[in-house]
Amino acid sequence: MDHFNPRNGLLHAEDVAIPDIAAAVATPFYCYSTATLSRHFTVFRDAFSGQDALIAYSLKANSNQAVIATLGALGAGADVVSEGEARRALAAGIPAERIVYSGIGKTAPQMAFALDAGVFQFNLESERELATLSEIAASRARRAPVALRINPDVDARTHHKIATGRKADKFGIPIARARDLYAEAAGLVGIDVVGVDVHIGSQLTDLAPFRDAFARVATLVEALRADGHDIRRLDLGGGLGIRYRDETAPTPDDYARLIADTVGALGCRLVLEPGRVVAGNAGILVTTVLDVKPAENRRFVIVDAAMNDLVRPAMYDAWHAIEPVRAAPADAPLEPADLVGPVCETGDTFAIDRPLPPLAPGDLLVIRTAGAYGAVMASTYNSRLLVPEVMVKGDRFAVIRPRTDYDGLIASDRLPDWLRPPEDTMLDRGAA
Ligand code: LLP
Repeated sequence: MDHFNPRNGLLHAEDVAIPDIAAAVATPFYCYSTATLSRHFTVFRDAFSGQDALIAYSLKANSNQAVIATLGALGAGADVVSEGEARRALAAGIPAERIVYSGIGKTAPQMAFALDAGVFQFNLESERELATLSEIAASRARRAPVALRINPDVDARTHHKIATGRKADKFGIPIARARDLYAEAAGLVGIDVVGVDVHIGSQLTDLAPFRDAFARVATLVEALRADGHDIRRLDLGGGLGIRYRDETAPTPDDYARLIADTVGALGCRLVLEPGRVVAGNAGILVTTVLDVKPAENRRFVIVDAAMNDLVRPAMYDAWHAIEPVRAAPADAPLEPADLVGPVCETGDTFAIDRPLPPLAPGDLLVIRTAGAYGAVMASTYNSRLLVPEVMVKGDRFAVIRPRTDYDGLIASDRLPDWLRPPEDTMLDRGAA
């Protein structure tokens, strides 16, 4: 469910007509709906109301300050995977004790920052991370709260680039090695072993892999407790899928029930890290048709958004719903179109053979379900500017990140002294 609906044939975000935003900020732009974002978060949160759970919104899906702050006000914590995300969460007002620091390949400075900030938990992925964090904590006469991320060797049956729980994936500690590593962790002065962490992948539309993975984790927790570890927290990661096309995604209630069934009896405090299910349907990318070019058996519809703005179709062959902002007349023929951007590679394609009504330059289109892994994955490839993000609430909207500008784009490059005019170099030396 979302709040992007037509009124009198014109798509609105809540109570704001999309063309009004386009007139104010120009296309392409991302547009988020507060009501949709809040609804998705509260439905997820409320599904766990009977369990002791911290809902740590996964910032990687969409880390705009306005998005984090909207969710923070509803009680969300944050799952962060870099110092940048930790800083974003803190800046948006998420208390440190609701932040979990996850992710593979953490550096010592990143871990030191998070420890000093006072995060709730570190999810560690290797012996090296354990040793490094222990040293950092010990040097401050502290003990860092730690869960080890277990690789349960379960195939999430999702796109192979976003499956993370198979033994060939780079993530976590092989479940067979877990007891040894927990024993080692327990002997480290700077480490307080508090829990177990698992995350098997993203966009899961089938609960069975979760069931497998959580059952394996439950067995492991019992073994670890028998070994003498006080395992009191369980971080089950994110991954709940959503509908992009015709998938039937499990509901948060189904997912919560499965969790109660598989790990409820352990009595652990739960951490959940949903990203996509919260933000995905709360955002659209609005773009303008630049050109329509006939091609064999179809037409190319060239729009002003490109793969650098939304990379999911190019990167994962992802399918996103696309529709005109102004509804076509009911009798308009639907004919196949390839929707492509202006970037100089064939991969810059949003859709192939998509049935769309007649389109002309200047028409506005929306690409749906772009609230998660959209703006955060954007780049300036082809020296294109990062597009604005807009948030709607009722009949109001605000630019929550302006379009970047060309001066900034170019000014961030530096010429080495051998490419600069001599006077310029001298001045530089003089200044130094
Ligand atoms: N926790 C961890 C440790 C993760 O690695 C992820 C996602 C999440 C939570 C949140 O998962 P979610 O609830 O959003 O499925 N760029 C890809 C998705 C990459 C997901 C990476 N990890 C895409 O556009 O499909």
